[in-house]
Amino acid sequence: MAKLKIFEYPDPVLKQKSEPVEKVDDDIRRLLDDMLETMYAAAGVGLAAPQVGVLKRIIVIDTHDEEEGEEPCPLFLVNPEIIARSEEQVCHEEGCLSVPEQHAEVMRYAGVKVRYLDYQGQEREIEADGLKAIALQHEIDHLDGILYIDRISRLKRQMLLKKLQKMRAGEKEE
Ligand code: NI
Repeated sequence: MAKLKIFEYPDPVLKQKSEPVEKVDDDIRRLLDDMLETMYAAAGVGLAAPQVGVLKRIIVIDTHDEEEGEEPCPLFLVNPEIIARSEEQVCHEEGCLSVPEQHAEVMRYAGVKVRYLDYQGQEREIEADGLKAIALQHEIDHLDGILYIDRISRLKRQMLLKKLQKMRAGEKEE
């Protein structure tokens, strides 16, 4: 396994639409493994392939709560597609490894049903709520070139990007 470079805002790769995967083969499985390692190393709960510069419809997610003593439970999703949504929406604070150290509240569906191919290329469906549902929507958005900051008001986005700029300027001075 190898840790991959995470592309950050405003890299243009993050704005592009990803292509479906034709076959889940060993190359795709290697990418899934590397993405999981990269996500764990960055302490994220989800990662989408475009964030490592690969424009394929692939995401990995693990929303287990370490502080609650839960074991890791990685989910590999190839060609994920939301096939049902709850009526209820929820507002939840989100962050993104491609927009480091920033957070904002985003409206999402409280529950979703997602169809996907698993690590072995088997078609599966998952119903999720809570943090897992939010992570699924956030990561699937990445496959369509959408970042969570595209889903907040222009004013909040401008403030957030200003903070990001400040943080990066501070890093350079050190
Ligand atoms: Ni993200």
